[in-house]
Amino acid sequence: MDRKRTDVLVVGAGIAGLAAALKADRQGADVTLVTKASRPEAASTWWAQGGIAVTRDDPDQFAQDILEASAGTADPDAVETLVTEADDAVRDILVDTLGVEFDTNGDGFDYGKEAAHDEPRILHVDAATGKHIHVPFLNYITDETDVEMLDDTAALELIRHEGRVYGVMIEQDGEWAPIFAGATVLATGGIGALYPRSTNPDGATGDGIAMAALAGADVADMEYVQFHPTAVHTEEGTFLVSEAVRGEGGILRNGDGDRFMPEYHADAELAPRDVVARAVKAERAETGEVVLDVSPIEFESEFPDLTAKCNDHGVSLPEIPVAPAEHFLCGGIDVDRDGQSSLDRLFAVGECACTGVHGANRLASTSLLEGLVWGRRAGDAATGHAVERIEAPELLDRDPALPDTFAREKFHRLRRVMDEQVGIERSPEGLSRSQAVLRRLKGEVDAYVRTRTSRPLYELRSAAIVSLLIARAASERDESVGCHYLVDQADALVSD
Ligand code: SIN
Repeated sequence: MDRKRTDVLVVGAGIAGLAAALKADRQGADVTLVTKASRPEAASTWWAQGGIAVTRDDPDQFAQDILEASAGTADPDAVETLVTEADDAVRDILVDTLGVEFDTNGDGFDYGKEAAHDEPRILHVDAATGKHIHVPFLNYITDETDVEMLDDTAALELIRHEGRVYGVMIEQDGEWAPIFAGATVLATGGIGALYPRSTNPDGATGDGIAMAALAGADVADMEYVQFHPTAVHTEEGTFLVSEAVRGEGGILRNGDGDRFMPEYHADAELAPRDVVARAVKAERAETGEVVLDVSPIEFESEFPDLTAKCNDHGVSLPEIPVAPAEHFLCGGIDVDRDGQSSLDRLFAVGECACTGVHGANRLASTSLLEGLVWGRRAGDAATGHAVERIEAPELLDRDPALPDTFAREKFHRLRRVMDEQVGIERSPEGLSRSQAVLRRLKGEVDAYVRTRTSRPLYELRSAAIVSLLIARAASERDESVGCHYLVDQADALVSD
């Protein structure tokens, strides 16, 4: 593989990475975008259902809703940046540049409502908004810009020296090489692969967070892992049933057929997401199951994509069996208003970044928006730096191939620990035991990484590092807040 240099190197091709690449390209920078995905649906953006929130005429109320959903922990300055730039970013990129046709009604946009929003303010395309944004965005970047996009190309390690990042070691077709960059923008998405049930694509192994943390970048709010209350788990996998369905009038019922959410929160099914997720978990434990009853709404005509998904997975309507699943990491690489991390020339945007907008709990339909707003800002700030070459790290591959089963077995163990001890409910004992298990597991993986270079091994290393960061941050937060919820005792033992 040829060694390469580029002004701006973006890692990741979800909405945040694409927005950063677009902005840097518009600024006249030479931009390279690498993504380990080889299909659009391998980025979380493609999977997004509900939509993208905008301010309409009331940015203050939108800011208020974000702060309240976060239990008062979101950073007000970051929230102000988001709501101030929201409508312009959506108009500029999604409407004027990509021509996304959001659903309309007789009065203009058909704004949707989701949990903890004071008013309907969510632009959507059916409940499959992500793919209606992601596909045209990928096409636009490929066809209409000078951005060089390398897919099926994984970032393995940052090239750094004394607090500055000079680019990334990448792997393509089993070979690796440095790409030197004036600035590097990480947009690697979430961490769903750390949990057995997640609404993310399989490749969400937290690579950007792990690489940044290994290079010495600050991370923040890692304990705040958001679980979505209404996911469907079938033999073929997990899929999300958007909060928009509850926004339209879908009702949660327990195994006795009773509606239970009014007993948990005044906003019932539209309570903050962490409250609903814990209630669904508790009712499942007590009554055997929870269903989302869609009989009060015109489900098939209002949600044709979800209807098709239910049909494909053999889920019969109108009572959809649901359970919580890992959905979004509110924390990540600590960044400022421009996506600048604590390391020089390293930026982070999207789910792998912690801008402070979400605090301890993210408000629905703000993740695509955050990716767009911070993507634009970081793409701008990342331009204008000279490319410098330094000695690249030496990656080795001198031992025989890793046994096929190694990564699979370790991932299985890691997910079990995260699910049992670092999930929706945590206890101090469980968190401390989980760290012991995760440290051992990371030690085993590190031993292999010293002599072998392979994508699955690096993904496993990323997962182990990020799991440890989450467990450690959770154990340092000794009171419940937002999606970090402590119970008194460990009710399950961690198995080694
Ligand atoms: C959903 O459609 O329920 C998910 C929206 C989000 O996570 O913001």
